[in-house]
Amino acid sequence: MAEIDADLFRGALGCFASGVTIVTTLRDGAPAGTTVSAFSALSMDPPLVLVSMDRGSNTLAAIRDAGFFGVNILSAEQAGIARKFASSKGGPKFEGVDWQSEVTGAPLFAENSSTIDCALEMVHDGGDHEILVGRVLFVDCPGETEPLLYFKSAFRELVSS
Ligand SMILES: Cc1cc2nc3c(=O)[nH]c(=O)nc-3n(C[C@H](O)[C@H](O)[C@H](O)COP(=O)(O)O)c2cc1C
Repeated sequence: MAEIDADLFRGALGCFASGVTIVTTLRDGAPAGTTVSAFSALSMDPPLVLVSMDRGSNTLAAIRDAGFFGVNILSAEQAGIARKFASSKGGPKFEGVDWQSEVTGAPLFAENSSTIDCALEMVHDGGDHEILVGRVLFVDCPGETEPLLYFKSAFRELVSS
């Protein structure tokens, strides 16, 4: 098998335009979360979603301990919080962030395009990532919002022609 050039691979994946989420959990009363674009619908019946998370992610470790996670599907107004949650360093990510919980206790944000609250159902091997399958226990889709998008390493917004 030919070796795949890492930069070329990264560039090819960057051409796949995606939405942006912040995946969260609550471990021992402490909120954790990170920006995730590798989110997908998985099954309608039963209702399942999946996220793919780097094995080095602090949020992944917290989700494995807690056994649940929330998916905050971001609106165009939330690029700032997406940047903030894309770092493992810096100040506390949740400082000044307005959140509440529903069924599991995972932090869910007020300004989302939509919100999904899940029990952690399965964890699969995904190379240097792990694939988390969530059983959906609560959803909310509050209204008419424009989505936040990610394409070629930049946050974008939909443009209507
Ligand atoms: C737009 C965007 C999408 C990202 N998508 C993912 C992803 O799908 N999975 C992942 O593990 N990290 C993803 N990251 C990187 C994490 O947000 C980043 O590694 C973060 O520092 C991890 O924080 P933590 O260690 O506190 O969990 C993404 C970053 C950005 C900016």
